[in-house]
Amino acid sequence: MRVVNIDDVALGSPLGQALFNERGDILAQAGVTLDATLVRQLKIRGYTAVFVEDKQSEGIEIVDPLSPETRGRATKATRDTIVVAEQTAQTLGRDFVQRASALPVSNDIKRQIIESVPVDAVFASSSSIVDEVLDAPTVLGLNSIKAQDSFAFGHAIEVASVAVALGRKLGLKKAELRRLGRGALLHDIGQSFTGDTADGKTGPPSPADIEQVKRHTRLGYDFLQKVPDFDPLSNHIAYQHHEWTNGKGYPRGLIGSNSITHDQPALPGQMLLIAQISAVADVYDALCSDRPFRARLPRELAMSLMRRMSSVQLSNDLMTMFFDIVPIYPTGYPVRIVGGALDKWQGVVAKLGTRDINRPIVRLFEKPDGLEVEPIEIDLSRDTAARLMTAPPKRRPTAGGS
Ligand SMILES: [Fe+2]
Repeated sequence: MRVVNIDDVALGSPLGQALFNERGDILAQAGVTLDATLVRQLKIRGYTAVFVEDKQSEGIEIVDPLSPETRGRATKATRDTIVVAEQTAQTLGRDFVQRASALPVSNDIKRQIIESVPVDAVFASSSSIVDEVLDAPTVLGLNSIKAQDSFAFGHAIEVASVAVALGRKLGLKKAELRRLGRGALLHDIGQSFTGDTADGKTGPPSPADIEQVKRHTRLGYDFLQKVPDFDPLSNHIAYQHHEWTNGKGYPRGLIGSNSITHDQPALPGQMLLIAQISAVADVYDALCSDRPFRARLPRELAMSLMRRMSSVQLSNDLMTMFFDIVPIYPTGYPVRIVGGALDKWQGVVAKLGTRDINRPIVRLFEKPDGLEVEPIEIDLSRDTAARLMTAPPKRRPTAGGS
């Protein structure tokens, strides 16, 4: 299996991983044939890439830590909670919500939230995420592919699963991982009040947009705090996930810690450990996913940006652990060779290196002139002259092109 840009899909290839709509229902099953009609539908929904099983990627295994059932259930639980938050925003009225910095303490609002938030479904799906990530390989794979119309759910699930994987690496106990998973799943619930200001826009967000979106942290926290069964520590992930280690984040300018021990309590003015972990997962998935205002970044760029955020925005210790479990180029990712005897050949990561996850075995099947050839594999742990970069998309128009 490998990931292929939607314009480069060879029609007739089987889809590698199931895709879900915003209701958590299966949009396309794994194994279904990618014909012109399906490719066109996926493009309309805003998919820019898909996982495919094809000749070039035969035998390459991409392990999804989450089962399709858990993805479906978590999508539905997140969506149903977002719907309650949106209804709350409607009840409060547009005028109020447009400038509110906190939710009012009103019994009517509280009752509406308590009666409608699908508490059991949220706990069940976030617990499944924890259980399945604990059973998955320690090194992470590619981010899930998200359509624009279901970005919010895909992002929520990805942040929860990456955060739990990082929490496991750190040695957190299961109860703490559950707290982390639940909080990370609903970290952006406040966007139901402020809107994701990137919605429908193609340019970068304006300063006014940024001010507007900043309020989603407190509003999300206030919303979650009205649900008696929700642990306040988990709710603080919504409040704190945009704080920076150096105290220059928002909304309160809390500080994080660059040297982490897993049983340290947060003192006043400091970020919770589970919020610091969620911040890393949030940045990672945001950079590596398509957004309305920009395409997903090539992974070498995303990773170098994250390295620069280390100690400034994100905890240094957590980033060290993050790079231990997140390869620059995961299995199934399209790469091009730079340097060495096979300079400018293209292919896909076939298997991660056992000693160094960033010196993988790469399967090459496209020569520098674009000609496809019988695949050959090279082991970058031996070939030290070669480096990797993200292979640029070919952008071949397909019969189903829109
Ligand atoms: Fe956020």
